[in-house]
Amino acid sequence: MNIWITGASTGIGRELARQYAASGHSVFVTARGIENLQSLADECQALQGTVVPKPGDVCNADGMQTVFHEICDEKGVPDLVVLNAGTHKPTSATKFVLEDHLRLMDINFNGVLNGLNACLPSLLERGTGQIAVVASVAGYRGLPRAGAYGASKAGLINLCESMQPELKAAGVDLRVVCPGFIETPLTDLNDFPMPFLMPVDKAVKALIKGLEGNKFQIVFPWQMGIVMQMLRRMPNWLFLKVVKKISG
Ligand SMILES: NC(=O)c1ccc[n+]([C@@H]2O[C@H](COP(=O)([O-])OP(=O)(O)OC[C@H]3O[C@@H](n4cnc5c(N)ncnc54)[C@H](OP(=O)(O)O)[C@@H]3O)[C@@H](O)[C@H]2O)c1
Repeated sequence: MNIWITGASTGIGRELARQYAASGHSVFVTARGIENLQSLADECQALQGTVVPKPGDVCNADGMQTVFHEICDEKGVPDLVVLNAGTHKPTSATKFVLEDHLRLMDINFNGVLNGLNACLPSLLERGTGQIAVVASVAGYRGLPRAGAYGASKAGLINLCESMQPELKAAGVDLRVVCPGFIETPLTDLNDFPMPFLMPVDKAVKALIKGLEGNKFQIVFPWQMGIVMQMLRRMPNWLFLKVVKKISG
């Protein structure tokens, strides 16, 4: 397969690129940090497949189009696009910082829009292909100190639900990926207990298996999926009580 992954310099995206390259696929990897992308390409040189750095900032709509068209020129329209780039920063309602909220929405939500804008016309024209948008179970319900992050991920889940039927009818298979806590540089920063924390290699195996299956929403680890589904189904009064108890 010909694959484009954004946010592939570290964490889930990097491991995904590595595992796909190990299976013989051609993987184009995008992030801002060229050194990390290059080290990934070097690391994967002995593998069956190839990893080609395509540096870029997902917040730059024109830049994403340029990256995508370069990939098409070099290898053809990708079979799989994984819009994975994202970040997290704790936010506070009482110490509200507008810039932090806007920045998280820009990278996590607008960054995916820019990726979709770049790849959709070519995938639709060909009438085949798969797109995976990486959201989070944090998008299921508003969690403390994660207002901007959760909102960006809830927005992605809603966006994908809305787009899936139309794209499916046009031959493009859109999936939304909702990880729980995965061991990456992103969660290394967390100073609170992370239930069911999953090693990144195991998480990526679950992600690849999910993409090969037929479920629209791919959730791992499953235990965190169940906990968050329960929270999602709770009435507001109970959910807010539980959150208050947990967060003190
Ligand atoms: N780890 C978890 O527990 C977890 C749980 C749920 C969802 N997720 C989601 O999974 C995705 C990957 O997260 P991760 O845990 O692997 O985090 P990570 O290790 O911090 O990786 C994030 C990746 O996104 C890239 N990125 C950030 N801002 C970018 C920008 N403006 N343009 C291009 N690339 C950008 C980073 O590279 P540069 O900084 O070099 O650009 C990096 O490659 C994110 O969307 C995250 O929200 C993670």
